[in-house]
Amino acid sequence: MGPINWHCHDCFHGMREADTAGGIVVVIDVLRASTTIITALANGAIGVRTEQSAEAARDVAAHAGRDTGKCLLGGERGGLRIEGFDLGNSPREYTRDRVVGRRIVTTTTNGTAAVAACPRAEAILIGALVNRRAVATRALELASADGGPPRPIHLVCAGTDGVVTEEDLIAAGAIVDAARATSLDAAAAAARERYRRTIRGEEDPRLPLAAALADARGGRNLVAIGMATDIGDAAAIDTIPVVPRLVRSSGWFLIDA
Ligand code: MLT
Repeated sequence: MGPINWHCHDCFHGMREADTAGGIVVVIDVLRASTTIITALANGAIGVRTEQSAEAARDVAAHAGRDTGKCLLGGERGGLRIEGFDLGNSPREYTRDRVVGRRIVTTTTNGTAAVAACPRAEAILIGALVNRRAVATRALELASADGGPPRPIHLVCAGTDGVVTEEDLIAAGAIVDAARATSLDAAAAAARERYRRTIRGEEDPRLPLAAALADARGGRNLVAIGMATDIGDAAAIDTIPVVPRLVRSSGWFLIDA
C-alpha cells in the first residue's frame, strides 16, 4: 500500500466539489464551530446537525422536537447568538447539563458552510485542536479501511468570510504532526511548520497556542465581542478524544470514535 496523501485547503472558498470527492475530509473551524460541535457530542448530545441558514436550522430543529426540549438550536452570526436561538457558538454553553440526551442543530458563518462544501467526500470528520490526535488517528484508519489504494485526507479550513485564518492553519498543522504524515502537499507541509514554530517544542503547548489563536483573525474577532475566554478552551490540545463524523443517510454528526 502506498503512502496516504495529505492535502490542506487553506480556506474552503473557491474549492470545487471534485477536489475532495472520494477522500476523507476533516473540517476545521477552531474558533469556534469545530470546537463547539466536538464539545457538544463529548458532553452527551445525541447528534449535531449543521445547516447553512438560520431558517433551515429552525425548520430542522422543529422537526427534531425543539418544542418538547429534545432538540436545541445553536449557532452565531457576527459571533453572537442568533435571536430566538437557545444557544450561541461558545463551547462553554454546551455543558453536560444543557445538552445531554438532546440533539443540536447549528448554523454558523463559516464552519457549517465548510461542511456543505464537501458533498462528495467519502467521509466528513470534524477536527480542532481539542481532538487533534483522535481525529488524526481516525482519518488514517478511514483512509486505509478499504484494503485498496489509500484514500487522500483533506484538511478543509473554514477561514473567516472567505479569508484564510491562522488558527485553522495551526490546527491543520497540529493534526498532520500527530499523524506523522510523510506525503504532504505544500499547504499541509506549511501548516505543520506553522504549528511546530508556534509551540517551539514546549512541553505544554496550550499557552503558546492560546497566544497564537488570540493573535489570529478569528481570535481578534472574539476579543472584540468579549468572548476571549473561548480562545483558551479552543487551545486545549488533545483534551477531548471524540471524533464527530457525518452520517450521510440522516445528515447528523455522531460520535465515530
Ligand atoms: C464560524 O463558523 O464562522 C464560527 O465558528 C464563528 C464564531 O464562532 O464566531
